Amino acid sequence: MIELKGAPAAESLLRQAVQRMEQLPFVPHLHVIRLGEDPASVSYVRLKDRKAQEIGLRSTMHVLPEDTSEAALLALIDRLNASEDAHGILVQLPLPKHINAQKVIEHTSPLKDVDGFHPENVGKLWLGQEALLPCTPAGILALCDHHQISLAGKKVVIVGRSNIVGKPLAALMLSRDATVTVAHSRTVNLPEITLQADILVAAVGRPGTITPVMVKEGAVVLDVGVNRVDGKLVGDVTPEVRNVASALTPVPGGIGPMTVAQLMLNTVLAAERQRG
Ligand code: GUN
Repeated sequence: MIELKGAPAAESLLRQAVQRMEQLPFVPHLHVIRLGEDPASVSYVRLKDRKAQEIGLRSTMHVLPEDTSEAALLALIDRLNASEDAHGILVQLPLPKHINAQKVIEHTSPLKDVDGFHPENVGKLWLGQEALLPCTPAGILALCDHHQISLAGKKVVIVGRSNIVGKPLAALMLSRDATVTVAHSRTVNLPEITLQADILVAAVGRPGTITPVMVKEGAVVLDVGVNRVDGKLVGDVTPEVRNVASALTPVPGGIGPMTVAQLMLNTVLAAERQRG
């Protein structure tokens, strides 16, 4: 069983980001907005900020109180949309309940939407047009490329249909000529479907979702889950799956670093496009 570690593949994405950044006459500036103190969000935002600093990207964290009004958040986004000193804008999700997340996403300039969540970027992704791509799905593709896991003609089963991972990953896998099935909480007889997968992606956010009896011998298993159980980070896939799969991403240290690296690359790509 091959452990598909994210670090080497992430390094290669970061090298690409740095090389492109060096061609620009300015240093791209990423703005990350976080509301409140959700521990997972605090940790993710810190990772993004640190990685930006590490590779020489400028990065500013905007930490706002949990009870910030939607109007105040939209006003900050307006200011960043208009600023020549903001090339990437990312609002960390989930947002508090009194804020309409979709409205916030649609308010962000599609040119600065380094999450790739704006409907214009989502539409372009499905049309196969150039767009800013959501970081986790794009990072998953980069991980497959790095490990020379071919996608064309493969049966890919994605468990989870979120706007952040499942749906955009389906579009990207299709664009690489995979045959894609998206399963979800209402799927009937999930094991029957997952057993067909050459490449199985777990993106549910529930530990123990994928067990060995659900995995075809020799399949590649990509675990996107990040769950905290008794203070420990675990994925959606049980550890015993390593006895069946030919390759498996660890949690932590698999997909996570790819998401962060792709965000850095997206910030540079967004800066390039804003330059015209
Ligand atoms: N929360 C969990 N994943 C993500 C992501 O990719 N982007 C943002 N903005 N928030 C998230």
